[in-house]
Amino acid sequence: MRTGIEWTEDLAILVGGIDDQHRELFRRLNVFLGACDSGKGVEDLVRMLQFLDDYVAIHFREEERLHEEFAFPERHRHRGYHRAFLEQLGMLKMRFLKEGPTPDLVATINRIVVGWLLDHISRRDREFGEWVRRRAGR
Ligand SMILES: [Fe+2]
Ligand SMILES: [Fe+2]
Repeated sequence: MRTGIEWTEDLAILVGGIDDQHRELFRRLNVFLGACDSGKGVEDLVRMLQFLDDYVAIHFREEERLHEEFAFPERHRHRGYHRAFLEQLGMLKMRFLKEGPTPDLVATINRIVVGWLLDHISRRDREFGEWVRRRAGR
C-alpha cells in the first residue's frame, strides 16, 4: 500500500462544506505521513499528528451537527463510528509518543487511518449525502 491518501471525485458527498473538510483532512494526513518518511524531528511530527487529530474532532462535530439539522436517521450509529475512530486514533497517538516514527508504526497508521477514511467517507458519509438529497427531493 502506498503512503498517503488521494482525493478522487467519487468521494464527494456534495453536502455543505463536508467535501472541503474531507480534503483538508487528507491534506493534513499527507503532510504528517510525508514528514514521517522525510526524517523530521519527533517534536514536529507530534505537532503534525495533533494538528490532524484536532481537525478530525472539528470535522466530526460539524458533521454531527448537520446530522441533527437534517434529522439523519443513522445519526446515532454514525456518531458511534466517529467515537470508535477517535479512540483508535488516540491509541495510535499514544504509541507514536512512545515509539516515534518507526517504519512499522508509520505503516500501521497509514493503513488504519487511510483505510478508515476511505471506507467511512465512501459508505457512511455518502449515505448521509444521499439522505440530504432525498429529503430535498432532488
Ligand atoms: Fe462521518
Ligand atoms: Fe466525514
